[in-house]
Amino acid sequence: MQSVTAKPLLFERLRQSSPQLSVGMLTADWLQLGAGLKILEAASVQLLHFDVMDGVFCPMLTMGSPVVAGCRTTLYKDVHLMIDEPLAKLESYVAAGADIVTVHAESCRHPHRVLQALGGMTNTNDPARGLVRGVALNPGTPLEVLQPLLDELELVTLLAVNPGWGGQKFIHATVGRLAQLKAMLAKSGCAALVAVDGGITRNNIAEVLALGPDIVVTGSAVFDGKDPAANAAFMAQAALAARR
Ligand code: DX5
Ligand code: ZN
Repeated sequence: MQSVTAKPLLFERLRQSSPQLSVGMLTADWLQLGAGLKILEAASVQLLHFDVMDGVFCPMLTMGSPVVAGCRTTLYKDVHLMIDEPLAKLESYVAAGADIVTVHAESCRHPHRVLQALGGMTNTNDPARGLVRGVALNPGTPLEVLQPLLDELELVTLLAVNPGWGGQKFIHATVGRLAQLKAMLAKSGCAALVAVDGGITRNNIAEVLALGPDIVVTGSAVFDGKDPAANAAFMAQAALAARR
């Protein structure tokens, strides 16, 4: 018997405005973060992507919930937890204003339990919005791990790079994995959003969008180099042009 949990309002909003661009702040100028957020808002970017890394699940140590809380913005907070055993830390990120919380199946001893716990939490920005629960998979993880979790998630994220650094090259096998994921979701009758994260630049964003994801995550393509505003406008325009 399919358990039919009502989808959060935010899920419907993202579904209706698919595809969306989610911009990672890992390579932003942290001394000018307020200006960086204004650039994204001006480009009508809707999602701010926080790459939270603990140096255990993946090599880098980046940021924690105080940074998520400190970013006062109108963008939805898309929190990507690349941390070992996130269960005990979920509340701090939800309290920090996360709208989307994505955990790695590889990082949880009990991924189903983590998603159940998230399902019982309230969006502190706007309770009516609800929380979108995501599961992310590293490039080397078989999609089959998702099957038992499909009733407890609203988003699946395929990493197109190995977690840890911005500016890496898009792993081409992600193309086949994306097709496999969409087929798996269709076969299971699961309406989850699909995201691709990492290695998405000016040069390949149109190609990636043509594969039909609901969210593409990009970081260095916006914030590295000279003109983040022009980069943000270009990437946001590409997502808009692909709107279905
Ligand atoms: C993996 C992170 C990605 C990455 C994206 O390291 O989950 O979000 O920072 O950065 P770019 O767009 O530079 O590959
Ligand atoms: Zn990420």
